Amino acid sequence: MVCVALLALLFGGSLKSATDFFNPTDGGGSLLDNAGGGLGEPLNVVVSGLSSPDVLTDDGIVNYARAIGFSTECFGIHLGDPQSANLGDGNGPQNQTIELRQDFGDSDIGTCLESLIGGNHFRVFRQNGPSADSGALFLAVSKEEDVSEGHTIVPDGYDIGRDALVAAAVGSTSFDGVTYSTTARNVTGLIAAGSQGVNHGIAQDGIVTLLTVTIV
Ligand SMILES: *[C@@H]1O[C@H](CO)[C@@H](O)[C@H](O)[C@H]1NC(C)=O
Ligand SMILES: *[C@@H]1O[C@H](CO)[C@@H](O)[C@H](O)[C@H]1NC(C)=O
Repeated sequence: MVCVALLALLFGGSLKSATDFFNPTDGGGSLLDNAGGGLGEPLNVVVSGLSSPDVLTDDGIVNYARAIGFSTECFGIHLGDPQSANLGDGNGPQNQTIELRQDFGDSDIGTCLESLIGGNHFRVFRQNGPSADSGALFLAVSKEEDVSEGHTIVPDGYDIGRDALVAAAVGSTSFDGVTYSTTARNVTGLIAAGSQGVNHGIAQDGIVTLLTVTIV
């Protein structure tokens, strides 16, 4: 009884709750997306549901991505199929909402450069289903080889990609008149370290970095 009252107090009496995120595994989901062939990319960065609501929209995450050195894909050309993820929120597997690529300092043509020479990129999945509506964004971040290598991930590319994104994100950033303050915290225990089930057989260290992004 006390427990229920406490939960109701914490969560405002509904599942649309003020929380960083729900563990996808608790709802039958996974911290690996589905890249085909039974393998997946780790969802190695989470943008907290406690971030400013405007950051968690499609337009909001694109503007934020630009503030930290990414842009939407080169002229909308997409190399490769969308991936899907089950975030354990009752929606089942859902395709990525968007994919963003490192823009090398030019948010218009830089992503074309990324497609040619390789770089950091990420896919975005939103946890907003009926049973776990945190609003958090789960990102599958990786660093790729150049196009001649067929856009595969560099060795250790998941951890490298995550750490590079986080390094660019933490602190104060801005784009198009919006200024962000970002803090990071590492979370373990969501996904086992190693290469089990991981696309391209590239091991990852089992760390998921939680970003809380506040518009200031
Ligand atoms: C994901 O996108 C692919 C290609 O556009 C489509 O065939 C598939 O049905 C989509 N899957 C989901 C779960 O929406
Ligand atoms: C998270 O873990 C990575 C890899 O060990 C490390 O480089 C980074 O500094 C950690 N970040 C935080 C906020 O603890």
